[in-house]
Amino acid sequence: MQRFEDRVVLVTGAASGIGRATAERLAAEGASLSLSDVAAEGLEETAATCRDLGAEVLAQVGDVSSESSVADVVSSTVERFGRLDVLVNVAGILQFEDFRRTTLDDWNRIISVNLTGTFLMCREALPHLLESGGNVVNTASTAALAGHPWTVSYSASKGGVFALTQTLAVEFGKQGVRCNSVAPGSVLTPIQQAFDLPEGADPKLVYRIMALDRQRGPETVASTIAFLASDDAAHVNGTCVKVDGGTLA
Ligand SMILES: NC(=O)c1ccc[n+]([C@@H]2O[C@H](COP(=O)([O-])OP(=O)(O)OC[C@H]3O[C@@H](n4cnc5c(N)ncnc54)[C@H](O)[C@@H]3O)[C@@H](O)[C@H]2O)c1
Repeated sequence: MQRFEDRVVLVTGAASGIGRATAERLAAEGASLSLSDVAAEGLEETAATCRDLGAEVLAQVGDVSSESSVADVVSSTVERFGRLDVLVNVAGILQFEDFRRTTLDDWNRIISVNLTGTFLMCREALPHLLESGGNVVNTASTAALAGHPWTVSYSASKGGVFALTQTLAVEFGKQGVRCNSVAPGSVLTPIQQAFDLPEGADPKLVYRIMALDRQRGPETVASTIAFLASDDAAHVNGTCVKVDGGTLA
């Protein structure tokens, strides 16, 4: 399948996990890629793999929570490729903490990357997506859809991503820009190193966030993102697709 031939796709969080798997999937399907992440080394590794898969790649170190960095990443993308067809927001951070011990700094740090970062990227990319008739895929989480213990900042940030996605879908759908999200459940990536339960946490609550069948890797989310970003999903707008092995079914 070459669903992304002649398409330019910008992926944040591309140095690792779901962002890396998405970049590789899109490269294999013919996309030209603009990849960004705060982690330079991982980003270069992803870029090298995607080039080996035949993709033209621009790799930029960038922080989605910084307005000026986001502006640079998007403008360099359009300078290099002349257009932007798809924005995939994957960059994110997670922290497990008892609600009572969550500090304002914890809250602000997580909201600024997961929610403000998604807002900034969408706002910067939209004029270009309106030109190309493109689309956005954001990364929410099952934490946005049901109670997810010990992650109040994270869950709130992902609930915001869910709502932001629906808002853009309605605001820009008639102008030809779709906006959808994925809600991964528990997927095997480095972010799971943050699955460090707070002291005194009731382990029975862990079942709410574990996969129903078995844990799987980030390629399961990448294939869903690729579908939503492709013309196969031309009539899909404002949807959040759970990729959780049935945990929330
Ligand atoms: N793995 C899971 O179980 C799971 C479940 C639900 C949602 N998610 C979401 O999927 C997304 C990807 O997570 P992952 O599992 O691949 O984790 P990951 O840690 O492997 O990847 C996250 C990437 O985001 C990058 N990043 C962090 N802060 C950034 C910033 N300020 N600017 C740019 N890049 C930044 C990191 O460097 C890293 O490469 C996240 O939004 C996460 O919340 C993951």
